[in-house]
Amino acid sequence: MKKTAIAHANIALVKYWGKRDIALNLPAVGSISMTLKALFTETSVEFREDLEQDLLILNGDKASETQARRAGQFLELFREEAGHQRKAKIVTRNNFPTGAGLASSASGFAALTLAASKAAQLTHSPARLSELARLGSGSAARSIFGGFVEMDHGKNSNGSDSVARPMHPADYWPLEMLILITSEAEKEIGSTAGMNLTAETSPYYKAWIDTAEADLKRMRQAIDDRNFTRLGEIAEYSCLKMHGLAMSADPGILYWNGLSMTLIQAVRKLRKNGIEAYFTIDAGPQIKVICPPGGAAKVRSHLENIDGIRSILTTGIGPAAYIVDDE
Ligand code: PMV
Repeated sequence: MKKTAIAHANIALVKYWGKRDIALNLPAVGSISMTLKALFTETSVEFREDLEQDLLILNGDKASETQARRAGQFLELFREEAGHQRKAKIVTRNNFPTGAGLASSASGFAALTLAASKAAQLTHSPARLSELARLGSGSAARSIFGGFVEMDHGKNSNGSDSVARPMHPADYWPLEMLILITSEAEKEIGSTAGMNLTAETSPYYKAWIDTAEADLKRMRQAIDDRNFTRLGEIAEYSCLKMHGLAMSADPGILYWNGLSMTLIQAVRKLRKNGIEAYFTIDAGPQIKVICPPGGAAKVRSHLENIDGIRSILTTGIGPAAYIVDDE
């Protein structure tokens, strides 16, 4: 049976960095994210008798061996549970520009999880889907849900409690976000390698772990109160703390380029001039600007003419992952 799922990307407001178990992909700290309406992955999975190996079509082209193997290995989880060995045809497409340097692993693995679960005719709860998606990519666990989402680091050694859960639905608080693309070059160090190097070498790693819960607690409160200033301040703080931590690895990891820094300063200057917006940055050089409801257009008009910006995406808060071809 062929099933197609859509899952939206998400951006962490309180960041995850570091794993408590590398093999099971268990995060060392919790995180809180917003699911993004304008960015999604659509993936169909069909388990077939006639395939010798898994086939992955990515944005219309046959994917590389490595990508196909990663997806195929992930599907073993579903084949095992369903009790068959049929190979799959996976067709996946991102609606956002590929090569824009935006992490597509969150929406990608969330969509693959949901489509594979349904195609294998398995019955998984949302929490179990989140747990499965996490095995593909840590942040994918959050893209199973819409709106504001919290991911727990969990305590169980098998990872059954390292899952995301919804805090508030998409319409709870219509924040907006600008995504400023500063470079389309492939990043030098991926998030998993970066996290593992940080955990092994940074003298600040323990402090990062020890202070994570306090940030999560403050962010939960800011979201519960719909307090934009608090949310923005904590998000910027968590972002800079994560990047400071990565920079303190040996050798130091730097995800920003010159334009990232220019935009950080520009967002702070906007606030000085009375326009409230805050930045956050993941493991790459793109700047995401958190804007209050209805505020993105104005913030954009102040930033879009800065030299060197490749493109800008504007988004609101998006829904949970869903199946599109249920008849
Ligand atoms: O999903 P991963 O394992 O690639 O890690 C994502 C890490 C950050 O995007 C930097 C932070 C986060 O919580 O999403």
